Amino acid sequence: MRGKFITFEGIDGAGKSSHIKAAADLLASKGIEVITTREPGGTPLGEKLRAILLAEKMDLQTEALLMFASRQEHLAQVIEPALARGAWVISDRFSDSTFAYQCGGKGYPEAKFLTLESLVHSHLKPDATFLFDVPSDVAHDRIKDNRTLDKFEQEQPEFHERVRFAYLRRATTTESYRFHMLDATRPVGHVWSQVQKVIESMVEPGGA
Ligand code: TYD
Repeated sequence: MRGKFITFEGIDGAGKSSHIKAAADLLASKGIEVITTREPGGTPLGEKLRAILLAEKMDLQTEALLMFASRQEHLAQVIEPALARGAWVISDRFSDSTFAYQCGGKGYPEAKFLTLESLVHSHLKPDATFLFDVPSDVAHDRIKDNRTLDKFEQEQPEFHERVRFAYLRRATTTESYRFHMLDATRPVGHVWSQVQKVIESMVEPGGA
């Protein structure tokens, strides 16, 4: 049986990382083979593209194309083979990030995004997507003292607020069937119990 594909999304500082690890541990404890991966990245070539994408300024369409180039490689080398052998795949970000950051944050035309999306993965959408929703000022306070900020993290809170609203729009319109929205201002344990409930229901026979 084919594995399931789960993605985690949200603005920088929304706090998805610890939940990704816990979700993988939960699936492994049920005897399910699970891989965790990330975008941009997830393959040797994708990680090289990530280093460029997170550091260099570039034309917006170049940025969108490189995000999808990384994704194409990720699908071909990692995601598709894993799902085909029955493993579950958890990805820290996928195409919703391009919709939110490049379209919502920077103004890349949505029609062009849809063209790239259907070119690269018309046949595949995540089975479930967790959206960690948090106001941009809260997220900004969480990351500002942490470490060296990358190109996207250095953007102003207004940028992240636009990214946030693009996510919310995507999660409440055409793609709403696969989204699980989480209030990431709530305590970690509360957020985790919601993630856990969804994953448990996906494991049960007939689960979403
Ligand atoms: P992330 O892995 O969340 O960063 P970190 O390792 O610092 O937690 O994401 C990398 C950055 O790339 C993030 O700021 C969002 C951005 N991004 C896009 O702009 N478009 C995309 O399509 C993807 C996948 C990521």
